[in-house]
Amino acid sequence: MPKDTLTITDNRTGKSYEIPIQNGTIRALDLRQIKMSQEDFGLMTYDPAFTNTAACKSAITYIDGDKGILNYRGYPIEQLAEKSNYLEVAYLILNGELPTRSQHEDWVHQITTHTLLHENIKKFMEGFWHDAHPMGMLVSTVGALSTFYPDAKEITNPESRRWQSVRLIAKMPTLAAFAYRYSIGRPYAYPDNELSYTGNFLNMMFKLTELKYRPTPVLERALDVLFILHADHEQNCSTSAMRGVGSSQVDPYSAVAAATAALYGPLHGGANEMVIRMLREIGSLARVPEFIKRVKAGERRLMGFGHRVYKNYDPRARIIKEMADQVFVEMGKNSLLEIALELEKIALEDEYFVSRKLYPNVDFYSGLIYQSMGFPLDLFPSLFAIPRTAGWMAQWEEMLRDPETKIARPRQIYLGSPPRNYVPIAERETPGRKAAGI
Ligand SMILES: CC(C)(COP(=O)(O)OP(=O)(O)OC[C@H]1O[C@@H](n2cnc3c(N)ncnc32)[C@H](O)[C@@H]1OP(=O)(O)O)[C@@H](O)C(=O)NCCC(=O)NCCS
Repeated sequence: MPKDTLTITDNRTGKSYEIPIQNGTIRALDLRQIKMSQEDFGLMTYDPAFTNTAACKSAITYIDGDKGILNYRGYPIEQLAEKSNYLEVAYLILNGELPTRSQHEDWVHQITTHTLLHENIKKFMEGFWHDAHPMGMLVSTVGALSTFYPDAKEITNPESRRWQSVRLIAKMPTLAAFAYRYSIGRPYAYPDNELSYTGNFLNMMFKLTELKYRPTPVLERALDVLFILHADHEQNCSTSAMRGVGSSQVDPYSAVAAATAALYGPLHGGANEMVIRMLREIGSLARVPEFIKRVKAGERRLMGFGHRVYKNYDPRARIIKEMADQVFVEMGKNSLLEIALELEKIALEDEYFVSRKLYPNVDFYSGLIYQSMGFPLDLFPSLFAIPRTAGWMAQWEEMLRDPETKIARPRQIYLGSPPRNYVPIAERETPGRKAAGI
């Protein structure tokens, strides 16, 4: 019987080590028994950006990047996008099972009745500069919620944890919408409990003087599907931030602020905004080949293309592309669409992109839809943060329940100076140091 072990032979000593293989991985700590020298504490692995390191066990989201598969709790994303709704998916992600009818009703009721913010939050929003980026405001205000809910520190209490998930999922749309309304000088629009999760978000964003805001059904559903597609994506940059920061046992509002900050970056949740900026910069079909040339020369990145895990068409991009057509019928064609389609056509045939397995990701088309729906560019990352909150909270919950969880603390390879003695300031300006510009 072949054993599920890996044999490592240290050529320096001739010694062999049997390292167990479990779930297709070896434990990095099992390498510690291999010493580089007598005093060495043991062999480590070097993996900047964790490209080949599993940092946790998880039962939430499954991705097969080569085949382009994405499942939440075992359910294919295509089925959820077609048949489910965002709040049901959020329940599934958090609890592991689809809700029964009564569980669903309770859950929707709890979320709907926790959308209001404390009035003081409006006051500190007013401290921001008039054209503050709404994502910067979201990062700060969600972190500040921890001061309104001190019970959130009880992270070992499952009931308290559940309530923080309800509050966060309920209040993120209100925070994002208030940040937007502040940045354009409009009065805040309060939540409307008669509307759906996404219908209410559209209400808080776009309501003007009408007594009752009525969302356009196609847009309400399109946004709901986009929220489903963004609900979780296993150990991405912001989720790793959530788990990493959460592992210090801080309250979940502070950890979500860290995750939101990670999502703000242009290589992560900021990419959909950057796609629109890129399409605007290209400006016309005639300039597409020139832009592709610059990407291939390494001068630019084709935003909305490529993914750390998907080496195939991102399944979410396929769903979004189909949905874009329905939105464009309602709102009129987005003038940037033909540039996007041309970029995609060229890139999918070009050797540079094909050999690197660079395909459109979720952000390539989502920005076009958001723009057609009337969302301003700088709100796009917030539109990612709102639905991802369910994923962050589910991953946080899973981390806290995992008996193997410890505070996240990677190692390093120290390549700096060997020990040396402190030099008094008067002795530092030697001619040698001056010549070296130190
Ligand atoms: C998502 C992303 C950060 C993943 O990066 P990664 O896994 O670290 O991949 P790498 O940066 O190692 O890229 C591998 C190769 O493809 C190239 N590449 C990756 N994404 C590219 C892009 N969008 N445009 C052009 N070239 C790209 C790299 O230059 C590199 O080429 P090389 O081997 O000749 O040096 C990256 O693809 C990217 O920057 N995409 C654009 C931003 C984006 O859309 N982000 C949203 C993700 S959902």
